[in-house]
Amino acid sequence: MTGSLNVVVGITGGIAAYKAVGVIRSFVLAGHRVQVVATQGALRFVGRPTLEAISRNPVHTELYEGVAEVRHVAIGQAADLIVIAPATANTIARLASGLADDLLGNTVLASTAPVVIAPAMHTEMWQNPATQANIATLRSRGVTVVGPASGQLTGTDSGPGRMEEPETIVQAALAAVRPAGDLTGTRIVITAGGTREALDPVRFLGNRSSGKQGVALATAAVRRGASVTLIASHLDVTPPDGVTLVSAPSATELQHAVTDAAGAADIIIMAAAVSDYRPAEVRDTKIKKGDTGNELTLRLVQNPDILAGLAASARPDQVIVGFAAETAPAEDELLALGRAKLERKGCDFLVVNRVGWNEGFALDTNTVVVLARGGKLALEASGSKLEVADRILDAVTGHVPAPVA
Ligand code: C5P
Repeated sequence: MTGSLNVVVGITGGIAAYKAVGVIRSFVLAGHRVQVVATQGALRFVGRPTLEAISRNPVHTELYEGVAEVRHVAIGQAADLIVIAPATANTIARLASGLADDLLGNTVLASTAPVVIAPAMHTEMWQNPATQANIATLRSRGVTVVGPASGQLTGTDSGPGRMEEPETIVQAALAAVRPAGDLTGTRIVITAGGTREALDPVRFLGNRSSGKQGVALATAAVRRGASVTLIASHLDVTPPDGVTLVSAPSATELQHAVTDAAGAADIIIMAAAVSDYRPAEVRDTKIKKGDTGNELTLRLVQNPDILAGLAASARPDQVIVGFAAETAPAEDELLALGRAKLERKGCDFLVVNRVGWNEGFALDTNTVVVLARGGKLALEASGSKLEVADRILDAVTGHVPAPVA
C-alpha cells in the first residue's frame, strides 16, 4: 500500500475540465494532498473557487507567480504523481515536444514522478496522426494514457475521445505509483495463446487468439519481480525474457503443463484460449480429398475444463484467475454472462474481455472488466495490453496502491 501522496492534478482547456473536479475529490477523499495546476483554458470551463474548495489548496496557473519560491519547478519536484485530466490535443503535443512556456509544462519537465494523462477531444482530433504520434512518444517515455473512452462528445458527435470516468483515472493513476519489485517472491503461472488440436500431421483446429494479453501479463509480472512460468500455446508474439517457458500446443498438453506447474504457484492465470473440443481421431497420414466421398465429417470430443478442475482442487492460499471472451453487445449482459461463468468455473477472479465492441483479437489494446468471487466488480480497465496486464495483476494480488473513497 502507498501512503499519502503529493498529487499534482493538471487541468487543461477542454469541456471535460468539469469532470476533473471528481478526480481531485477522489484523491482528497483517499487522503492524498492535491495541488491543482490549471491552464488559462481550463479556467474558462471550471471556476477557480470550485477547484480550490475541492482540492483544499490554492490553484496554480501562472508561470510568473511565486517566483521567489521557484514555483515553476517546486511543484513538479515535490510531486509523487502527476495526473493531467483532461489532456487536450494541444497539451499532449506540448508534452510530447517538451515545451515549458506555461506552469504545467514546467511542472512536468521538473518532475521525476509518474505522469498519467486522460485525453479528451473530438474523435477526428484523437485519431489525427499527429495526436497518435504524440501519444506514442509519450507512451514510449513511460507516460500512462488512460482512455479515451468512446461515447457522447460535445455537441451531437459521439465516438472515441470522451474523457474516462474520474474513478477509472484515479485508479489507473494510483496503480502507476507502485513500488518497484512489488511482486518479488510471488510465483505466477500464466497460460497464453490459442490451442491447436491436430487433425492430421499438417492440419489443426485453432482459434484467433494472438496470445498478446497473456504475454503482456507475463511481461508485467516479470518486470514487477514475480517468478513466472509461461505456458504457451500458439503465440503470434515473442514471449519475454526471464520466464520459464513451457510449450503446450494442444489442450491436453496445456492441461499436463498446468497440472505440473500448479503445485508451486501462488497465482494461476488462465489467459489461453483453450479449445473446448478436439478431433476424436488424429490421423497418422494426411487426410486426402475424397477419402470419404464428397463430404468430410469430423467427430469431436470435449476437452476437460482445465480452469474448473484447477479451481476445484486449488489450495486455499492459491488464487485462480480465468478469462472469458464474450461478444455481448451491452455491458449489463456482458457482466451477467461473466458472473454466470465465474460461478460455473468456481475461480477467484474472471477477466471478461469486451470482444467485438471496440476491441478484438490481435490488437495491442484491450478493455476488460474483472469480476471477483461472488460477482463483485473488482476492476474496469482499458488501455494497452501491458497497462491492462498491470491493472489485472493489481486486482488479483490485492496490490492496489490505495483505497479510493
Ligand atoms: O468456457 P470458456 O471457454 O469461455 O472459458 C474460458 C476460460 O476457461 C479461460 O480462462 C480458458 O483458459 C479456460 N478454459 C479451460 N479449459 C477449457 C476451456 C477453457 O481451462 N477446456
